[in-house]
Amino acid sequence: MISLNAEHILNNIDDDNLKHKINLNVFQEIDSTNSFLKKIDASNNLSICCAEQQTKGRGRHGRDWYSPYGENIYLSLRWDIHRKNNNIEQLSIIAGLSIIEVLKEIGISKDITIKWPNDIYYQNKKLAGILIEAVHGLNNFLTIIVGVGININSNFENSQNLENNWASLLNISKRSFDRNIIIAKLISNIQTKFMLLLNKGFEIFADTWRDYDYLYNKNITITNVTSSIDGISKGINLCGELQLLTSNNQTISLKSGEVTLSGLTNKL
Ligand code: BTN
Repeated sequence: MISLNAEHILNNIDDDNLKHKINLNVFQEIDSTNSFLKKIDASNNLSICCAEQQTKGRGRHGRDWYSPYGENIYLSLRWDIHRKNNNIEQLSIIAGLSIIEVLKEIGISKDITIKWPNDIYYQNKKLAGILIEAVHGLNNFLTIIVGVGININSNFENSQNLENNWASLLNISKRSFDRNIIIAKLISNIQTKFMLLLNKGFEIFADTWRDYDYLYNKNITITNVTSSIDGISKGINLCGELQLLTSNNQTISLKSGEVTLSGLTNKL
């Protein structure tokens, strides 16, 4: 196993300007990289946290995130910006695209898709997830934290403890990976896309996202806090909202929710 190493991560970031704007925190163990970044002071820099292990790794919808020591990527990024209500959902969608691009750069692209809004799948197994958190402060001050969990060197094959619906890069490609290099690539890619989103809007990402749409034309159920609705998934619109064709032939747009494939109990 190659350990996480702050210098090694920074050395693999090509953009010198970005390198000097980063506050990088690397831990052996932390409760959650997202929770750590929530507690630090606001900064003009890009604050980053990654760890060998999370003791309280958090997933979406209140779930835990499997975070064993030394195997996978647990990475969070924090921006403090002056912005009125930003479209956080859109950021979560483009962060998914960043993961896809970085995986491509390291030779993993076959059968990789995104399940709206931002779960990364290999075939029908979940490979990576993203947890976005935002805190609105006074005077249009906004703190955004993007947490990325990617299964890298965990072996889920024959795993007794977990259901058989997780994938890792090790299981996909039968080799192990240096997480420092992948983390460096992710930081650069997410930062670039975030700036593009702020300056140009979401539309420029919509077509690329559609190329990886795991749910397209599938029967799904979307559950929100108060209700759930069935339909056929018809991709996203130019704002990143899911287009759901319902049984009365109406297409509705959804900003958020938990998607399950109809007839399946798989709730990753
Ligand atoms: C999901 O449920 O799909 C989202 C998983 C997000 C996990 C990552 S790991 C790094 C960061 N810290 C956390 O506690 N969660 C996110």
